[in-house]
Amino acid sequence: MNTIVIYKSKYGATKKYAEWIAEALSCEMVEAKNVKASDLLKYDTIIYGGGLYAEVINGVSLITKNFEELKKKNLIVFSTAITPLSYREYYDTYVIKKNFKPEMLEHIKIFNFMGKMLTDELSLVHKAALKSLKKIMMAKENPTELERLLVNLCDYNDDECDRESANVLINYVKNLK
Ligand SMILES: Cc1cc2nc3c(=O)[nH]c(=O)nc-3n(C[C@H](O)[C@H](O)[C@H](O)COP(=O)(O)O)c2cc1C
Repeated sequence: MNTIVIYKSKYGATKKYAEWIAEALSCEMVEAKNVKASDLLKYDTIIYGGGLYAEVINGVSLITKNFEELKKKNLIVFSTAITPLSYREYYDTYVIKKNFKPEMLEHIKIFNFMGKMLTDELSLVHKAALKSLKKIMMAKENPTELERLLVNLCDYNDDECDRESANVLINYVKNLK
């Protein structure tokens, strides 16, 4: 089977997963900025990965904007993020709604992995964005569980990238016919 891994990665978390996945599947890996949708037509299986930024999977529009052309392929999308994976409502409701139309979900298999966010690596723009998000969330009178979580995540400083966790995606692709 002809497979490609495409990734967009600002701080390297998604790139690490893309490398692990491409290595395990012995397939091509390419950065999203070097790919056009038309380049993808020759592949049977297309794996796209991006970090989550304000709940948007970085660059996933490469897949969603070209969905009609690509929907007959095996489409796999993965995100890397800092929200704990146990917070299923976040991933299965908010993130899904923000990135995909309902009809896409039948055709796209989605995986979520833990990523990294290290304070020392963040750009000034991202540091400022997180600071103002925290301020907005802290000003809420009756914060929801999600808003409380976001306040804490603004101070996240860790690397939870985990090679083993990518096996679920790798095995899924290996079992495709
Ligand atoms: C400005 C900013 C916004 C972010 N927004 C989210 C978010 O909405 N949800 C989340 O779980 N993680 C969020 N993150 C964390 C990133 O998704 C995480 O660091 C990811 O692993 C980065 O992947 P990359 O290095 O491949 O770009 C955010 C990080 C930054 C700097």
